[in-house]
Amino acid sequence: MSLRSGNVVAFPTETVYGLGADISQPQAIQKIFEIKGRPSSHPLIVHFANLSELEFWAENIPATAWILAQHFWPGPLTLILTKSNHIPLSVTGGQETVGLRIPRHPIALKLLEQLGSCKALAAPSANRFGFVSPTIADHVKNAFNDKIEVILDGGPCEVGLESTIVSCIDKDVTILRPGGISVLSIENLLQQKVSVKSQNKIRTPGSLSSHYATATPLEICQSSESLFSRSFDLLQQGIRTAVIIRSTHLIPMLNSDDKFHYILMPNDPVAFGKDLYATLRKLDDANFERILVEAPPDDLEWLAVADRLSRASYSFTSK
Ligand code: TXA
Ligand code: MG
Repeated sequence: MSLRSGNVVAFPTETVYGLGADISQPQAIQKIFEIKGRPSSHPLIVHFANLSELEFWAENIPATAWILAQHFWPGPLTLILTKSNHIPLSVTGGQETVGLRIPRHPIALKLLEQLGSCKALAAPSANRFGFVSPTIADHVKNAFNDKIEVILDGGPCEVGLESTIVSCIDKDVTILRPGGISVLSIENLLQQKVSVKSQNKIRTPGSLSSHYATATPLEICQSSESLFSRSFDLLQQGIRTAVIIRSTHLIPMLNSDDKFHYILMPNDPVAFGKDLYATLRKLDDANFERILVEAPPDDLEWLAVADRLSRASYSFTSK
């Protein structure tokens, strides 16, 4: 198996494609950082297959973490816990905590099972550092060409956004990255309010505001009216513009031509999240000069989508 010989393997998970390396092989971990162009201080998520091994990988596991793990694993949830000494510091960016997850994609689980018991894969999203995560195997192929020996193709990812990261280190349960599992479903399960780290004060080193960027500057328009007038302004300036809308009432006012293109996305947070990255990549490849997005509703169910869009828009607003 390629992983046992210290190679990096790209594989599908239900969230996004990951770039996996056996955590017991330091040179394989090193390769991940090199291939992605990611600073070594940015911790990697450790993926494993069996809940019975949670105590092998983590220490001082609080009751809330057990409840979350039992309910949501295998699935798009990453728990931040105190690491055991089986986790090398090179994987956690030198921190004493570790992000752990049991993915539910059958190929990911099979790979982990074949790797063996008490073995795990460090796997960041299989994109270059700072760019949008891959949701089909071709995204990985295009980003890395021949730098990865094996890319396992599992078709399009079911969730399409990264896992929800929940810190269970302090007494409180804190969402560090909204994602495939909604805040509401976590609160309902735990029967308590959880805090969501505001974007400006995010503690995870990988959560720089400029993460998940598109190459094309992206602007969020707060209403369908402002999107309509902004696209009109841009077209007047001769700027090739693509817009992503949810409101069907805009359609009669929009006509796609060679300078302007609109995409109607589902008005449902789960379906929208599944298509988001692939849509952004398509628009990037189509060489538009600007992408406008109708803002998602200010609603907890849309939090993960809103988070990724605002990070993608950073490249524009920061200039
Ligand atoms: O859905 C996912 O989580 C995907 C798939 C492949 O599993 N993986 C993923 O990994 O998104 P990556 O490396 O692209 O993002 C990991 C995030 C980073 O923001 C990192 O800072 C955070 O997890 N993280 C990892 N370990 C951490 C720790 N010990 N404390 C705080 N944040 C941590
Ligand atoms: Mg990533």
